[in-house]
Amino acid sequence: MNRPFWMKVGIALTLAVRGADSSIAQTASAHQSSLKGKTAAEAYQNIQILKEVPANQLIPAMQFITYSLGVECSYCHVEGALEKDDKKAKQKARKMMQMMTAINRDNFESKQTVTCNSCHRGSPRPVAIPIIMESGPKPPFESAPAEDNAAIEAPPPEQIIAKYLDTIGGAAALAKIITREEKGTINLSGRTLPIEILSKIGNKRLTVIHLPNGDSITAYDGASGWTAAPNRPVFEIPSVEVVSSQAEVDLQLPLHMKQLFDEVKVAAPEKVGDRETYVVAGFNSGEIVAKFYFDKDAGYLLRLLRYTKSPLGRNPTQIDYADYRTQDALKIPFQLTIARPNSRLIVKIEKAKFNVPMDDKKFARPAPRPAPAPPPQ
Ligand code: HEC
Ligand code: HEC
Repeated sequence: MNRPFWMKVGIALTLAVRGADSSIAQTASAHQSSLKGKTAAEAYQNIQILKEVPANQLIPAMQFITYSLGVECSYCHVEGALEKDDKKAKQKARKMMQMMTAINRDNFESKQTVTCNSCHRGSPRPVAIPIIMESGPKPPFESAPAEDNAAIEAPPPEQIIAKYLDTIGGAAALAKIITREEKGTINLSGRTLPIEILSKIGNKRLTVIHLPNGDSITAYDGASGWTAAPNRPVFEIPSVEVVSSQAEVDLQLPLHMKQLFDEVKVAAPEKVGDRETYVVAGFNSGEIVAKFYFDKDAGYLLRLLRYTKSPLGRNPTQIDYADYRTQDALKIPFQLTIARPNSRLIVKIEKAKFNVPMDDKKFARPAPRPAPAPPPQ
């Protein structure tokens, strides 16, 4: 049951699922070839609450639950038979989904205001009694946080983005970048492995990690995404994740803010590490979908926080950019820290090259392998 760590990697990158759960997630994702256009109830065997949600949003919802409760899939699921209701926690979770829907319906105009995480905050047992402090007192909240932009002291978003563009080399230099090839290392479960990242305009990105027994791949082809790893079939990346990843994948992001978001606004300034930043938030259909943190003085993008929609709440992914260096006419980050509620990966780039010829076919999903023949009777 304890698989070698490299079997977990492919999923770790996109779903961030660990341990025995990787095989659960594999069984779950194996369904995916048949998910298109179906509801969860049609695609899966035993759905009683999330019946009407699009089938490919079921796994993002499950991910949201594991993040909120700080548990793994196996807390509720029997390995190899995800449809079974043998575990009490799974039955309880159904009741909780109904309760959450009722709370939001009765109090918050059916918006996703209260979620599993509002109460659970990373633990299966919520704490009802206020916690006694361990060290010095925290300052109490003095006034309600500012809600409108008028109270936020920051330049308009266009100005913050223009400064960032200037800092990295200018809009004209960035507009000339068609492809980027990066090679370096990734730190996974304490091991350092070689990684290659190919990017092309049109939201194409191929990330290849060279494992001892083969390659682990995460790819976006501009419209959809897929992952592959040694000894398992190719999985489709849920479309909600593909949409959310655009802010991370777009090679010319600062030139495309208007295409990616209906609305771009400044949010309250925050600190990233010890740096003061201006925060620019991107909205679609009135909902915040990504936040960008720019160094107040130097102008660099230090952090991207993006949200992936799910039927129960939104899953966050955070990328910290550091070690900006000049490559040809542009400055790009040579260190990325990709973090989710249950994982943290550090990528160090050693070499980067722009405008290397790259065929679109490189990003395309490989044809499915024929199903193995049934064993002889
Ligand atoms: C806290 C409990 C809980 C955790 C943790 C959890 N699930 Fe679920 N899962 C459920 C419940 C409840 C359902 C049924 C939902 C319904 O009836 O609408 C379900 C249904 C499913 C189904 C559909 C199975 C079928 O055929 O009916 C899959 C697939 C699934 N979960 C995968 C996962 C994966 C992968 C993880 C880990 C990332 C996970 N779950 C973590 C509670 C959980
Ligand atoms: C309004 C607060 C609240 C929300 C929202 C909420 N829960 Fe809970 N949940 C609780 C409390 C309180 C308990 C503990 C109940 C008890 O002690 O019997 C609990 C217990 C559970 C348990 C049992 C844990 C165990 O093993 O003892 C599961 C599983 C669970 N919740 C899942 C969920 C899921 C999944 C969601 C989101 C769909 C959710 N909860 C949303 C308050 C909440």
